[in-house]
Amino acid sequence: MEIQVHAANEWTVSADTVLILPAFEGERPATPLEISAVTAVREEGVFTGKAGQTSLLPRAADCRGVLLLGLGGRGECNAETFRRAAGKAAGELCRYRADRAALFIAEGFPASPEAFIEGLVFGQYEFTRYKKPAEPPSVPIARLDIVAEDRDRVDVTACELARHETANANWARDLAHRGSSDLTPTKLVGEATTMAAEVDCGVEVLDQEKLEALGMGALLSVGQGSEEPAWLVTLSYTHPQAKRTVALVGKGITFDSGGISIKPGQGMHEMRYDMCGAAAVLGAMKSICQRKPPINVVCVVPAAENMPDGRATRPGDIVTAYNGTTIEVHNTDAEGRMILADALAYTTEQHKPNAIVDVATLTGAAIVALGHFAAPVMTPDDRLWAQLEAAGDTTGERVWRLPLWDEHDQLIDATLGDIANIGPKGEAGTIVGGAFLKRFVGDTPWAHIDIAGMAWNVKHLPYWNPSHATGYGVRLLTEWVAREAAEGAR
Ligand code: BES
Ligand code: MN
Ligand code: ZN
Repeated sequence: MEIQVHAANEWTVSADTVLILPAFEGERPATPLEISAVTAVREEGVFTGKAGQTSLLPRAADCRGVLLLGLGGRGECNAETFRRAAGKAAGELCRYRADRAALFIAEGFPASPEAFIEGLVFGQYEFTRYKKPAEPPSVPIARLDIVAEDRDRVDVTACELARHETANANWARDLAHRGSSDLTPTKLVGEATTMAAEVDCGVEVLDQEKLEALGMGALLSVGQGSEEPAWLVTLSYTHPQAKRTVALVGKGITFDSGGISIKPGQGMHEMRYDMCGAAAVLGAMKSICQRKPPINVVCVVPAAENMPDGRATRPGDIVTAYNGTTIEVHNTDAEGRMILADALAYTTEQHKPNAIVDVATLTGAAIVALGHFAAPVMTPDDRLWAQLEAAGDTTGERVWRLPLWDEHDQLIDATLGDIANIGPKGEAGTIVGGAFLKRFVGDTPWAHIDIAGMAWNVKHLPYWNPSHATGYGVRLLTEWVAREAAEGAR
């Protein structure tokens, strides 16, 4: 999708363009052209400007059509309102088979076009790898003209970044949708190294033999029930003016059967998405390498498949993690925290980052707590929390803090090992995951984001297809890193 920005008074509409007019409830839609039909739909009460409402007027004015886009009250309109409306617009344009659109931004409009671009790029997403070609094929939007009354207030670079970074989130969604036999741990690592070469960042791959030599007993214990070997891949981005290093760590379970503590059959196929934490940090890394903030970033992905087998870890086994902590495995289905334990300890020791954020589809309890409306964040660090909350505000990826109290630590007390990998059933399941991970980061400022509820099945956002993975985290982490870089530069 090519984007061009124009001053409204220097722009003329072309016959193949759909003109998009954002409109507020109780106001006459602002328009650069005189369009009698716009007044008519309002007067007939067909279109009131309510948030989520759309009205497509075919062949109005001298163009293919006019799309009225309801935003609700002007006072409540923010980036997320606009992003959601753009998701609706993507659907309308697709149904109308339009390949060219122009977005009108009137003087004093309260949101910036970046949010619209994000919603539009998300809203057009399709995953067709396993489908026979659609007949007729769908029509992507090839060209978006941004027509602004105040041309100087449109940041062209920010528009281009929004387009690229949303495309990177869609790339993460592509990884998520791959079947688990089509995206094994080996192939996930392959995708990471290919991407690293494309964006020119450093890469280190640890194979099973090296993991053994390093003593990554927790990661290996998860992978040992699978025919597929486990891996740990690290991408690194460096900037000559960097004063700090931050780390992103993502759970890369390409399939989670539960292992010997096997999951029920219903819904098990969704565990193809158990690598969405990995996809999020990889997508963010792709964006960071393009945006080039003045900070160093390491991105670490432990990858494994959790399967039941004669060689699989048994409940009751005790394994030793990279930092020497022994873990009593009470449930092989709590595998995400096992692979993250080694990845976090390794990241802490090898890279000594100033801050670490890990992202994982860690607990079903996160969905019990917050539904599909926000990702729980656990961190002992108030500054880190403030940064993540602000980043989520900017990108529309909502986060919500849960506590990590000392009392929670007791929930993973073990009899034979140092800690157990689960707590008592039904007690603070999401926080127990966080309390477990906390044992592997030492004193490093760290936050854990549980994306179990946000990685797929999000049904209330028009720009995310409810039956698809979301790419949640890609834009959030990119924004967080940019904020860390700006803070370090001060
Ligand atoms: N990958 C799952 C968590 C999950 C479940 C994410 C459903 C999204 C939807 C994770 O590995 C898991 O199985 N967690 C267990 C933890 C329990 C054994 C303490 C869970 O949530 O039941
Ligand atoms: Mn599991
Ligand atoms: Zn899992």
